[in-house]
Amino acid sequence: MKILVTGGLGFIGSHTVVELQNKGYKVVIIDNCSNSSPDVLQGIQSITGKKPIFEQFDLREKEKVQNFFSRHDDIEGVIHFAASKAVGESVENPLLYYENNLSTLIYILQQLSYKKSANFIFSSSCTVYGQADELPITENAPVKPAESPYGNTKQIGEEIIRDTCKVTKNLKAISLRYFNPTGAHPSAEIGELPIGVPQNLIPFITQTAIGLREKLSVFGNDYPTSDGTCIRDYIHVVDLAKAHVVALQRLIDDKNTTNYEVFNVGTGTGSTVLEVIQSFEKVSGQKLNYQIVGRREGDITAAYADTTKANNELDWKAESKLDDSLSSAWKWEQKVRG
Ligand code: WQD
Repeated sequence: MKILVTGGLGFIGSHTVVELQNKGYKVVIIDNCSNSSPDVLQGIQSITGKKPIFEQFDLREKEKVQNFFSRHDDIEGVIHFAASKAVGESVENPLLYYENNLSTLIYILQQLSYKKSANFIFSSSCTVYGQADELPITENAPVKPAESPYGNTKQIGEEIIRDTCKVTKNLKAISLRYFNPTGAHPSAEIGELPIGVPQNLIPFITQTAIGLREKLSVFGNDYPTSDGTCIRDYIHVVDLAKAHVVALQRLIDDKNTTNYEVFNVGTGTGSTVLEVIQSFEKVSGQKLNYQIVGRREGDITAAYADTTKANNELDWKAESKLDDSLSSAWKWEQKVRG
C-alpha cells in the first residue's frame, strides 16, 4: 500500500516514514527542503533498509501537485506534515504562513476528493486550544482565538478538512493535535535539525550542553505553577510517529466512527521547564548553564493532554517518558555536533 508523506524529510515526518516502512507501507515523500535536507533519506534507509521514493517540489505549485497525483494514482493515504511552523516567524510574515500552510492543504484535498476513496492524516497542534480552561485538555476543549498566524493556520486547516469531509464522503480524515514533540530516533540516525537559533526548549538545551549556545534563557518563573515555570506535555517523536500509523490504519480498516475525527497526541503528563532541565542534567550527567529571564510573548502557562480518546480508540499510548526523550535528544545532538 502506497502512502504519501508530505514534509517527510522533516523532524516528525522522517520518524513517521520510518514507522510506516516498519509496518510494510511503501512511502513516497514530497518535500521542498526549505526546512530539511535530502541527507535525511540516508538516515531513514540506514534504519529500515528501505529508501523511500522522494520528489522535491513545492506544494504551492498546483500543477505539480496535480501532475504528481496523476503519476501516483495508487496512493491510498496521505500524511500531511509539510507546513511552516515557527510561531514567531508567522507573526512577522503572516501571508507566507497563510499561503504555504493553507494553499498546499487545499491542493492536496482537491486531488484526494477525485479519488474513489482516500485517507488523510493532518498534522495539527495543541496550540488550537490556547490556554485551556481545564487541564488535562480533552478534544472537547473549546478552540480559542489563535495566538499567532501559525496557530490560526492549524485552526483554519482543521475547519477546511471538516467542511470538505462533510460533502466528500469518500474522504476520511483525522487531525492529530500534537503536544510538544521532542527527542530523536534511538539509533541517532535521524532527529531534529533546527535551522539557526532554536526556538524550542529541548534543542536549545542540547545545543547549550554541547557548547553551541552560551546559556539557556528560561522565559519566566513567575507563572502560577509548582516552580513558577511553564508546563508542557513533551512527547517522544517516535511515539508521535507511531500515532500517525495507527491513525492511518484506523481509516484504512474503516474503524473510524465519522469521516472526520480529532485526537490529542501527548503523554498526558505535564513537566515544568525546570523539571525538564533537572531531567536533562540527570540523563546527560552534566550541569546546564541557564538563567531566568522575562516571560516570552504569547506563552501560555500550562498545557498537557487528556489522552483517553487516543488510548481507547486508537489503542495507542505514549511509551517513552521525559528522561527517554531527553537522553535520545542528547545522543542525537552529540552525534550531529560531536
Ligand atoms: C516550551 C516551554 C517556553 C525556549 C511550540 C509551538 C507549538 C509546537 C511546539 C509546532 C515554554 C520555554 C522555550 C527557550 C524557554 N510547534 N522555553 N526557553 O511554545 O510550548 O510550543 O512548539 O506545532 O505549536 O507553539 O514550545 O519548546 O518553544 O517552549 O524557557 O529558549 O519552554 O517558555 O514554556 P511551545 P517551546
